[in-house]
Amino acid sequence: MKILDQTECGNSAVSYGALIERIEILRSTLRWSTQLERAEIERLLRQSNALRDEVMRLSSQERFVAAAAARPDAPARTGGERRQRLLERSFVFEGAFGDNPQLLEALEIAEKAAPTDLPVLIDGESGTGKELMAKVIHSNGARADRPYISVNCGAIPDNLLESELFGHRRGAFTGAAQDRKGKFEAAHGGTIFLDEIGELPLPGQVKLLRVLESREIQRVGSDEPTAVDARIVAATNKNLRRLCDEGRFREDLYYRLSVIHVTLPPLRSRRDEIPLLLEFFGTEAAEALKRRPLRLAPALREFLLGYAYPGNIRELRNLVYRLSCLAGDTAGLEHLPPEVRAAAPAPASAAQGVPETAAAAVATATSLVDAKRAASDEAERAFLERGLRAVGGTVTELARRCDMNRSHLQVLLKKHGIRSRDFRGQQPAPGDTPS
Ligand SMILES: Nc1ncnc2c1ncn2[C@@H]1O[C@H](COP(=O)(O)OP(=O)(O)OP(=O)(O)O)[C@@H](O)[C@H]1O
Ligand SMILES: [Mg+2]
Repeated sequence: MKILDQTECGNSAVSYGALIERIEILRSTLRWSTQLERAEIERLLRQSNALRDEVMRLSSQERFVAAAAARPDAPARTGGERRQRLLERSFVFEGAFGDNPQLLEALEIAEKAAPTDLPVLIDGESGTGKELMAKVIHSNGARADRPYISVNCGAIPDNLLESELFGHRRGAFTGAAQDRKGKFEAAHGGTIFLDEIGELPLPGQVKLLRVLESREIQRVGSDEPTAVDARIVAATNKNLRRLCDEGRFREDLYYRLSVIHVTLPPLRSRRDEIPLLLEFFGTEAAEALKRRPLRLAPALREFLLGYAYPGNIRELRNLVYRLSCLAGDTAGLEHLPPEVRAAAPAPASAAQGVPETAAAAVATATSLVDAKRAASDEAERAFLERGLRAVGGTVTELARRCDMNRSHLQVLLKKHGIRSRDFRGQQPAPGDTPS
């Protein structure tokens, strides 16, 4: 672990040197104690937990800087420089990673907006980091130590919306047995994150607008207004402007919420960052799962670099965690979920072996289900052929390497009409290495 001084640590509360000192104090307390009281044990446990969190945070920040510095083809290093500048200004990234200009612009806007109380609207496709960005805004402002309350506006039934957001008085409706605070009151002094704001029904929009204008809420069943001071950050994967044009979202509310407007880029517009993200989440997953960082088989790496990621960064991150959990030292295509694997572009070498019918089935399928099934068959066949080439046609060996049941493998070979003996004595092509 590199020892950083206070300035290098940026926003960290403690330097690595100070951290080691704290660990030493803890160690000597343990060494010299003849007998520990329960309260003392609990105190030491709390300290060790705090130290562990601190070490995790610092190591994640170090990884963040190292990954940026390691990028060989950074365009004139402008992305890296912009990020480095944010770090030097003690910006809290909350793990938001990347050098993409649109992402950095969003982070720079967040930096400026955070200390103000202006409402921020974040939009972007699913899994692009909207919630993460909301936390970034909260953490970089003066309200960082106050509550951060997240509300999914799309998940609250219409009849409970008002009570969820603004609370209720006892007896206000059947089932209201106690007075209850709503999310706005809970967020008093801090930030309220209104997620999926595009899903808020029109009556809810009217009520929200009233709160934004008056900065007061009224619990259901109460006539008393209560002042609330909650900073509003809203997010949506919809085009709110269009919803306004269609009359499904109130224009006045849209303008209230979008004083600062941040749009997050989809992963397809930052494809050049996929290798970095794979590396970043690979190390993160290794730490979380307490394992050695995963190696990717060439075919899987090629697949991951070319895959479309409809679920954006969330999907990429989830895939890396899944692979890190399921694979041994090296992950291969077989560790991908079947529906993702079905989308594998057949490698050029394997595609030659695919019968006309399978490729044609993909091209001519009339339903999505048929297209997926045909693509999945095609990928399965390509995988089996590549595997058999790699092991010189020995089914038992292929079953061992792929950690598959031998008789299941035989069934699959039969299904595709593949004869293992046709692969005896063949040389493996580059990338023909199932784990
Ligand atoms: N720039 C980024 N760097 C690192 N991790 C990221 C980044 N953007 C998103 N993530 C991770 O991707 C996952 C999804 O992010 P998040 O939940 O913020 O997305 P979202 O836009 O709110 O998605 P949805 O629209 O589906 O609610 C989280 O695990 C988050 O930490
Ligand atoms: Mg979200």
